[in-house]
Amino acid sequence: MAANLGSTRYPFLLAYLFLVLLQTRVLCYQYKVGDLDAWGIPTSAKPQIYTQWSKYHTFKIGDSLLFLYPPSQDSVIQVGEESYNSCNLKDPILYMNNGNSLFNITAHGEFYFTSGQQGNCDKKQKLHISVFSGNGSAYSPSYGPTESASSYPTVFGTIPQPPSSSPPPLSYPVFMAALTGFSVSVLVGGIM
Ligand SMILES: *[C@@H]1O[C@H](CO)[C@@H](O)[C@H](O)[C@H]1NC(C)=O
Ligand SMILES: *[C@@H]1O[C@H](CO)[C@@H](O)[C@H](O)[C@H]1NC(C)=O
Repeated sequence: MAANLGSTRYPFLLAYLFLVLLQTRVLCYQYKVGDLDAWGIPTSAKPQIYTQWSKYHTFKIGDSLLFLYPPSQDSVIQVGEESYNSCNLKDPILYMNNGNSLFNITAHGEFYFTSGQQGNCDKKQKLHISVFSGNGSAYSPSYGPTESASSYPTVFGTIPQPPSSSPPPLSYPVFMAALTGFSVSVLVGGIM
């Protein structure tokens, strides 16, 4: 039984440490949307350019998206999911048309953008990004356990938040990993 518990726990520990490693990168990035010099209708050579681009990038709070385009010819609107899917341009959340539009990511969640030009959305000039946890209050130029520890619980949603005022001791991630691994294996054990 004890050995069984240990072997279940190990992969989760690894997974957690991997997450920690991923999240130590907390510098802010400004992404040029699609790595393109112009936000526009995808060319026939790369019809999925925006979908592909967002799939291979990880966005977080503090990052920003830069949309570049000739202001007389295009614009960017942020829309809700339904409008994104149906290409409804009628009730944008945000409208930007200065040709050099910076969207600042200040919250986590799903963000949907398209062109304000009639017809462009249907031609796949639209972008959907997902911003995962990483709490804004924990956001700081330093890297370390605070960011990882406070953002991790939102994945599972069951681990108590540490007091945010005092910086946790260095052993904290290890403790969290053990605790998490343990509770996950108990959970898994309970199901199986
Ligand atoms: C994002 O931040 C930049 C610089 O702080 C600002 O110029 C820009 O207007 C902001 N964008 C939005 C959409 O608020
Ligand atoms: C982020 O932190 C703030 C303040 O500590 C809190 O109100 C908010 O619920 C947190 N959000 C997440 C996603 O943890």
